[in-house]
Amino acid sequence: MATTQTSGRGTWNSKLGFILAAAGSAVGLGNIWGYPTQVADNGGAAFILVYLICCLLIGLPVMIAELTIGRHTRKNPVGAFKKLDKSGFGAIIGYWGVLCGVMILSFYLVVSGWTLAYVFEQISSFAGNTGLAEFFGDLTNGPKNAVFTVVFMLFTVGIINGGVSNGIERATKVLMPFLLLMLVLMAGYVMTLEGSAEGVRRYLLPDFSLISIDLTLSALGQAFFSLSLGMGALITYGSYLKKNQNIVESAALVTVVDIFIALIAGLLIIPAMYVALNQGIQIFGEDGSLLSSATLVFTVLPQLFENIGGGFGLFISLSFFLLLGLAALTSAISLLEVPVAYVIDEHNISRKKASLIVGGVVLFFGIIISFDIGLIDIFVAIFNEIGLPLGGLMTCLFLTWIWKTGNAISEIESGFPGAANSGLVKTWSFFISYVCPVLIGIVFVTTVLNIIR
Ligand code: PFF
Repeated sequence: MATTQTSGRGTWNSKLGFILAAAGSAVGLGNIWGYPTQVADNGGAAFILVYLICCLLIGLPVMIAELTIGRHTRKNPVGAFKKLDKSGFGAIIGYWGVLCGVMILSFYLVVSGWTLAYVFEQISSFAGNTGLAEFFGDLTNGPKNAVFTVVFMLFTVGIINGGVSNGIERATKVLMPFLLLMLVLMAGYVMTLEGSAEGVRRYLLPDFSLISIDLTLSALGQAFFSLSLGMGALITYGSYLKKNQNIVESAALVTVVDIFIALIAGLLIIPAMYVALNQGIQIFGEDGSLLSSATLVFTVLPQLFENIGGGFGLFISLSFFLLLGLAALTSAISLLEVPVAYVIDEHNISRKKASLIVGGVVLFFGIIISFDIGLIDIFVAIFNEIGLPLGGLMTCLFLTWIWKTGNAISEIESGFPGAANSGLVKTWSFFISYVCPVLIGIVFVTTVLNIIR
């Protein structure tokens, strides 16, 4: 496969290649692990409604903004903001993105490593190892956790080393369709098990009285995380886009795919939890609230798979953790690509060296977290719940007041003739200038006040 290069930078080989790579970034632990447990925690369909509003009214416009900035500047987030704002002030947004990328990836790797550990453990159980019930405690309380974190990082660095079209695009083109197929088959299978109907009911029947500011905060944070927004991942991916690609259409497709996969993952995980409950497996803690998402996915579901038993149970269990691991891999790639592209562009270092240097820094934090997984909650609060909406807010303000929407629309025009007169683009311009910053601002300030209080 030919690697297309434009002025020394890689570009996506095909339109579909970009869509799959960006969807690969979006679809990850956030969809299969985060979203279903957030829904279950926050009153089922009431959360889904607020989440969809956050994705479509805030996430989609911010995604278009990031892709536009990336393609126009053909740079990593730091270089992109520097290029558009000579005062250097805008670069702060880029540096914030790079920092969030490093920090989010460091805990993301640890959780991704768990998926690998489960796959490995189950394959080796062919040789007579014990079951999975106690495995999580064993895994997270010792050096094994660090080992799997490192191994997952090696996979990620390996793909990033291959470059844009030969590494990222090729890997995601194979992995994404496979992932979707596995997800649909598994959700279909879980539906046939006793107890799943109660899960579907809990998932889809809304109780709107549960909508609150806390729920809205969670939904917005989840939308940013799931759509890979607010830290320049899509500025970076946008920088490899060809001029003739329609950014609005591509962003809409990626958003729809991400939402669709989350909705199906909910139809897999939530019914599976109730199937487990039906079999006498604990899914609620002593205070009546749902167990933590890590416990649900890494101890409750494995127990359920073990109850299915035999070769088929093993097959389902292996498929599930493989699915989770592959989804995590295509997202980890994009998290790593942000700081790697920054080092390549701004410090003139080869891709290979850059990925090794950045990989080392990320692993440093990843290994610390692997020895104290309580740190994950702190990292999530700072870099995901505050960091990403803050990055998104700054991007909206930058685009509107410093770069100016007119310039962004000219960039959109190159792959979307007539964009300036299109109602869609006019609506986007209104949203990115007013609706998004005001809404994110309200939610962001409330989050910070809640945390300080
Ligand atoms: N979107 C990924 C997920 O849902 O798991 C996580 C992620 C990837 C967040 C890339 C941010 C990012 F830039």
